[in-house]
Amino acid sequence: MTDRFRTIIEPFRIHSVEDIALTDIDQREAALRRVRYNLFGLHADEVTIDLLTDSGTGSMSSSQWAGMMLGDESYAGSRSFFRFKEAVERLTGMPEVIPTHQGRAAERILFTETVSSGATVPNNTHFDTTRANVEYQGGEAIDLVTPEGLDPENRDPFKGNMDLERLEVSLDDPSTTIPLVMVTVTNNSGGGQPVSMANLRGVSSLCQKRGVPFFLDACRFAENAWFVKMREPEFESHTPAAIAAEMFSLADGCTFSAKKDGLANIGGFLAMRDPELAERCRNLLILTEGFPTYGGLAGYDLEAIAQGLEEVVSESYLRYRIRSTEYLAEKMSAAGVPIVQPPGGHAVYLDAKRLMSHLSPEQYPAQALAVEIYRTGGVRGVEIGSVMFGQPGPNGDEVPAPMELVRLAIPRRTYTQSHIDYVAEVVIDTAARAREIPGYRITYQAPWLRHFTAEFEPI
Ligand code: F0G
Repeated sequence: MTDRFRTIIEPFRIHSVEDIALTDIDQREAALRRVRYNLFGLHADEVTIDLLTDSGTGSMSSSQWAGMMLGDESYAGSRSFFRFKEAVERLTGMPEVIPTHQGRAAERILFTETVSSGATVPNNTHFDTTRANVEYQGGEAIDLVTPEGLDPENRDPFKGNMDLERLEVSLDDPSTTIPLVMVTVTNNSGGGQPVSMANLRGVSSLCQKRGVPFFLDACRFAENAWFVKMREPEFESHTPAAIAAEMFSLADGCTFSAKKDGLANIGGFLAMRDPELAERCRNLLILTEGFPTYGGLAGYDLEAIAQGLEEVVSESYLRYRIRSTEYLAEKMSAAGVPIVQPPGGHAVYLDAKRLMSHLSPEQYPAQALAVEIYRTGGVRGVEIGSVMFGQPGPNGDEVPAPMELVRLAIPRRTYTQSHIDYVAEVVIDTAARAREIPGYRITYQAPWLRHFTAEFEPI
């Protein structure tokens, strides 16, 4: 019935609404000074459109809310756990399912049990918590995304792909110990870019030949599956669920944050095939997260995630989801705002290196742009550049990140097209004044994950 029409509508209607804060520029200016130009410090009610993250910020469906009333809060053997386990097993084909309170808890448990000091973990691009959790165990986190993935203007359809040649060199280097290989789908820190099935098959085969376990960081598996359907001809007539099943079939395990493609506000899991490793992980889970049938979650959270995993592979949902991100990207791109092309699944990434070429990496151009977008229209994005990923250099200096990006992440099923039109207007207005925007210097930073709490001042 809708086939004759081009407009892709939100495939849901709104059942419950939440007020949005409308602020003026003086209020936003005062807020920026108070939080020392770190947007993580803002109160949510100082933000008009919050694109800080797509993590845990989505809207749940009425079926998820109804499922929450069915939550079984038994400490051990909860019915909700078995519904959750069944949903995860159906999706991943992995029999060992360990619930955790979010993705990074799954990472910490996995890396504690697998990574020892001096070990190396390759990934296409580690997300910040993934990198920090590897490093916290004394391991080295290396990013082996293909060169296309580091070029914002390159329009390769699968810019999240792992560089198989470099992976093979690392795997065969006798001086490195690689306890596992990870691939992040979609590649969040590299622009939300997808990984092809062909590439996953390549990683899987390299790992299998050497007996090295292959884990997916599967937070956005459904969005990745949609890109595979759209861009890899072999899969054009497959359902997203079948594509996802094939992706998981290539891996030995996965970490998952249910706050993304679980369509839930909290939760995650660690899943795998190896019962011996799973047992060690479960023992650690009991120490720090909770009994293995709840892992730090309420029974009702497990219900919401189980239902979310079913909804997220819906074709009408994924078509709308990926199109709405692309819609924002097209508007900004048409106005000449440089963005990472093609746009990713969950976010549009502004290329601050190009837009703010008057600033050097030490002046944190992406941080400067994110601050100015907030000041202009109350839209909050996040810096993914040298504040987040700058590394200490040999002489006390700082090695900048390869890209200077501002991520505008789109919460799932939350904002409408007019909200997105407003965001485009604010960003285009800001970009037109890019040359006048000052750089920033850091006046305080924590020893790791500094971007959450760093303090800045304009230069
Ligand atoms: N892996 C990836 C690729 C992620 O994007 C995230 C979180 C995690 C792991 C950790 O999951 O938050 O549940 O502990 N990403 C959020 C973001 C925070 O804004 O991109 P978590």
